[in-house]
Amino acid sequence: MSLKQHGKARAHTNIALIKYWGKADESLIIPMNNSISVTLDKFYTETEVTFNPEYKQDRLVLNGQEVTDDEATKIYRFMDLVRERGNTSMYAHIESVNFVPTAAGLASSASAYAALSAACNVALNLNLSDTALSRLARRGSGSACRSIFGGFSEWNKGYDDETSYAHSIDANGWENDLSMIFVVINNKSKKISSRSGMSHTRQTSRFYQYWLDHVDDDISDVKDAIHNKNFNKLGEVIEENGLRMHATNLGSQPPFTYLVPESYQAMEIVHQCREAGFPGYFTMDAGPNVKILTEKKNQDYIINALLKTFREDQIIASDITQTSIEIIK
Ligand code: ADP
Ligand code: DP6
Ligand code: CO
Repeated sequence: MSLKQHGKARAHTNIALIKYWGKADESLIIPMNNSISVTLDKFYTETEVTFNPEYKQDRLVLNGQEVTDDEATKIYRFMDLVRERGNTSMYAHIESVNFVPTAAGLASSASAYAALSAACNVALNLNLSDTALSRLARRGSGSACRSIFGGFSEWNKGYDDETSYAHSIDANGWENDLSMIFVVINNKSKKISSRSGMSHTRQTSRFYQYWLDHVDDDISDVKDAIHNKNFNKLGEVIEENGLRMHATNLGSQPPFTYLVPESYQAMEIVHQCREAGFPGYFTMDAGPNVKILTEKKNQDYIINALLKTFREDQIIASDITQTSIEIIK
């Protein structure tokens, strides 16, 4: 019998509607505020992990390329947590493919750590519940804790490692009526990672307290809007919350922004569609790309409006998926 242990899983990315922006504990990844996301059908990561007593160290091959330096250190630290849970000292070889651009503000870290956690869960027979899996994924990248679930997902900030994890929000199937349109303005790796951007903002932004003072209201407004299937209400809240996050970056010392002129062009088109009676609402993450939440019935109108300014290959529409994690045999 071989002592090797193997697991493979797919996890989908999620895009936050109410943003996670700032950590209360940087090493445990406990956030300053709750966040809410949708999990997307089109974008995902597949990760295969093999533990073997003969391996001398962990190894990550991402999109066919061996990962080294700081990125590798992040993975080694995460794998130490996995080994602790599995009561093993075996190192692992990890092979991962992103079906989403890496580090471009399209949430690759979310699907990455959700898939890795799920693959390790299988490989080491950890039998982790969804909650436990969410807590583990959180330690790799905060947003990953929401990618354990499909549909709408909320990360309860909690106050320690035990209490900080995501759960799914029951939307009564409403997510099937919605979709998200991605305007890919730049799919290259960003200069300021989410991790360092939010840390700098939390520590130096003159607007950060304002952010904290309003985010709880946004969370409860979004939950109400989901409960009542009130798309316009949902949209108004999420658009404002996303812009407020980007405003906190401008209040940092020194200030910075992830947005570029084309981001504003896309936002303007969304406003025009709304005025024409085809509502969509935008949100942006740690990158210039614009994501537009819409009802499926209005998706084509908004895509056609975007195509007057952007190329066809810059526009990708995705459904919201009901399940995020799939175990691959
Ligand atoms: P994004 O907006 O894509 O989530 P982040 O700055 O949050 O950008 O995270 C990007 C980082 O996530 C990468 O630099 C890498 O460390 C990690 N990452 C992305 N994809 C993978 C993967 N498939 N496996 C392991 N780590 C990954
Ligand atoms: C703007 O989860 O990528 O996308 O926890 O440091 O890995 P780390 O950061 P990450 O941050 C995501 C920030 C965001 C908003 C969100 O997804 O909630
Ligand atoms: Co990320």
